[in-house]
Amino acid sequence: MARSRKTSGHRPSASRSDTIRHEDAFPRNEVIRLEQLRRIYGQGDAAVHALAGIDLSVQEGEFISLMGPSGSGKSTCMNILGCLDSPTSGRYLFNGVDAGTLTSKQRALLRRNYLGFVFQGFNLLSRTTALENVELPLIYRGVPTSERHELALDALQAVGLADRAHHTPGELSGGQQQRVAIARAIVTRPIVLLADEPTGNLDTARSIETMELLQSFNQEQGITIVMVTHEPDMAQYSNRIVHFRDGCIEREERL
Ligand SMILES: Nc1ncnc2c1ncn2[C@@H]1O[C@H](COP(=O)(O)OP(=O)(O)OP(=O)(O)O)[C@@H](O)[C@H]1O
Ligand SMILES: [Mg+2]
Repeated sequence: MARSRKTSGHRPSASRSDTIRHEDAFPRNEVIRLEQLRRIYGQGDAAVHALAGIDLSVQEGEFISLMGPSGSGKSTCMNILGCLDSPTSGRYLFNGVDAGTLTSKQRALLRRNYLGFVFQGFNLLSRTTALENVELPLIYRGVPTSERHELALDALQAVGLADRAHHTPGELSGGQQQRVAIARAIVTRPIVLLADEPTGNLDTARSIETMELLQSFNQEQGITIVMVTHEPDMAQYSNRIVHFRDGCIEREERL
């Protein structure tokens, strides 16, 4: 599959240094740290302890899989990692910054400048082309049009879809749509890519293609990946499996 390394040396102009800084004392390569993280939905007798005290450390460059039964708290954890939700208690440190201390605007900047998202349902805009879908996060960053086109085309080329740039999602297969979604997630060169069941809607061949792609971005560009999967075969592409049960981490497995 054609891959471009051209994007790797190039950062979009709205730089990630504008708001969030490393704390010097923090180990530089620990990109994610969860300390006694809890998330309780509802109150009283109806309270659901979706996360019941999670401790997790992810080093920059790791590729980890979250596994576990339905309802064990994986998506709840991903939503917090993606700054789409806040813990009830405990701390989430991203690159040494306590996400709980950020304003909603800073959290939005953190999402935009540092994180990439891939979902089970692809979440592409149906009336716009693959190229426009991939350009979208660059528009939010204020990247000028010509640079945006170039970066988006590079990202589509990196997922082997440069020749489908002007097709809409309805004109693409499921596997191709997920590759467009991956191009959209990596076009901003995120530090961390969060993927919640990225192969959940794909057949085995397409799932393998998707995992090889994620693995290549992890290995060649050093993008840290946290992925949820129910499929042991897909988890084998990662370096570490974190097993959830009843809102807790039951065990971790290094591969
Ligand atoms: N918005 C919400 N309000 C109330 N309870 C919720 C909410 N979101 C999740 N839960 C509950 O929290 C628990 C953990 O849900 P979560 O979605 O994190 O599970 P999961 O491990 O991702 O499961 P699956 O594998 O089915 O996707 C479940 O019991 C769920 O019902
Ligand atoms: Mg889930």
